[in-house]
Amino acid sequence: MLPALLRYFCHRLLAACGLALFAVLPLAAAELTARFVGSPACATSLCHGGAGDLRHQHLTWQTKDIHSRTYNTLVNARSAQIAAALKLPDAANNARCTTCHAPFAEVPRAAFLNDLIKPTEGVSCESCHGPAEPWLRSHTRTDFSHRDRVQAGLRDLQHLYVRANSCVACHQTVAPELLAAGHPELLFELDGQAVAEPRHWREKGDWHGPKAWLVGQAVALREMSAQLTREKTPGEKLTAPWAAAQWLLLQLDGLDSMLPPLKPAASAAQLQPVADQLARRAAELEWSRALTHQMLQRLARTHGEFTDAKVPASQQARRAERLVLALDRLTAPLETAALAKLEPDLKVLFALAQSRPDFNPEAFGRALEQLAKKL
Ligand code: HEC
Ligand code: HEC
Ligand code: HEC
Repeated sequence: MLPALLRYFCHRLLAACGLALFAVLPLAAAELTARFVGSPACATSLCHGGAGDLRHQHLTWQTKDIHSRTYNTLVNARSAQIAAALKLPDAANNARCTTCHAPFAEVPRAAFLNDLIKPTEGVSCESCHGPAEPWLRSHTRTDFSHRDRVQAGLRDLQHLYVRANSCVACHQTVAPELLAAGHPELLFELDGQAVAEPRHWREKGDWHGPKAWLVGQAVALREMSAQLTREKTPGEKLTAPWAAAQWLLLQLDGLDSMLPPLKPAASAAQLQPVADQLARRAAELEWSRALTHQMLQRLARTHGEFTDAKVPASQQARRAERLVLALDRLTAPLETAALAKLEPDLKVLFALAQSRPDFNPEAFGRALEQLAKKL
């Protein structure tokens, strides 16, 4: 096996390889030796390169989806600034950047089936669906079910745990040096980000936004825990969001007997496998409206904690930031009338969580109490 290819997969597919090897290994084993075909191979008019309901995927991705332009970001002025701060000669040709913005740049030639593949295509079909060589021919068979295709090696993105693992690989953790050099902080939230990505698919089965939210948060916490465990001097930019993400999920302890019990973890290393288990189990959970409602109530009832003077305002601000995103996703499936009743309070909460330096925990706590009364 090619070591470079292995590294590529460890990094991108398994996110934090050390931790996730146990997590997604069956998936990885099938993908490890597979070759990429490149997005032009998916784009013929009879396949995904047409217009219309069934064949629009390439067009949607190319014209509407930022993922087709992630390489271009690396040649803009902001990237030049970040690269200069890191003393990198060229962001567009450096693995520290291409790993997420132009993943094909790191794949060795031997892993390409043909010459159609260019790193400039950015985050493309196979970055999410997996290298296509093993399933390219068979996946068009009309007698094949989704399950058969997955068996052949297509990544099962309908499964929320698998989907979360695919996205989080690029959407949560960046090295502290990159943050110090001016790279935007990342915050992974599966439901909101899956809705924000211009859809080239229809959600099937029991797709449920709040469930996606929970799986996404657990996977994000796992990745942050893995990163903290790895970094020798992580600094506040890594520890603060980790603590806030942990706080948020702790509020949901005991939500369902299927989910593992949560308690404040002594260390990131300890939290990592618990968060992974939470994500896996949450993805298997039979979802119900009652669960969403309970989650909303639990989160709203944290209002008292915002007046706790022992927690620094900066930490409260991080908690509030994640909390409002959660409220947004958990209220999204409500009926119009029910949502309209909560909307004024949600607006106030969002406004109060806007700016970290000006965050006023008490005002936020009061607004949250108002919301709690209506739930
Ligand atoms: C772990 C994956 C990852 C790595 C590594 C990474 N980026 Fe990013 N980058 C992202 C994601 C995801 C976003 C989108 C952030 C958002 O909008 O929430 C982003 C956003 C950006 C933006 C802002 C785009 C805009 O205009 O809004 C710039 C500029 C950028 N990255 C440059 C770089 C450079 C330069 C490097 C290398 C030094 C780099 N990135 C490394 C994932 C990554
Ligand atoms: C190989 C890396 C990679 C993977 C995998 C990936 N993304 Fe992204 N994504 C990026 C980068 C890089 C950007 C930033 C684009 C820019 O500004 O250059 C981005 C931007 C986005 C944006 C717009 C900015 C934002 O953060 O709101 C959304 C939405 C998004 N991605 C959703 C997803 C979803 C959903 C998945 C999984 C199904 C996913 N991404 C998988 C790299 C990736
Ligand atoms: C950022 C990640 C990402 C990228 C890039 C991406 N996809 Fe997808 N794709 C998804 C997700 C998530 C789903 C929904 C799960 C599913 O239906 O398998 C999906 C679903 C699909 C479906 C099923 C459509 C349906 O309604 O049943 C097709 C076909 C598809 N993608 C083709 C493509 C093609 C072709 C490209 C490249 C032009 C591409 N995808 C790029 C994430 C991605």
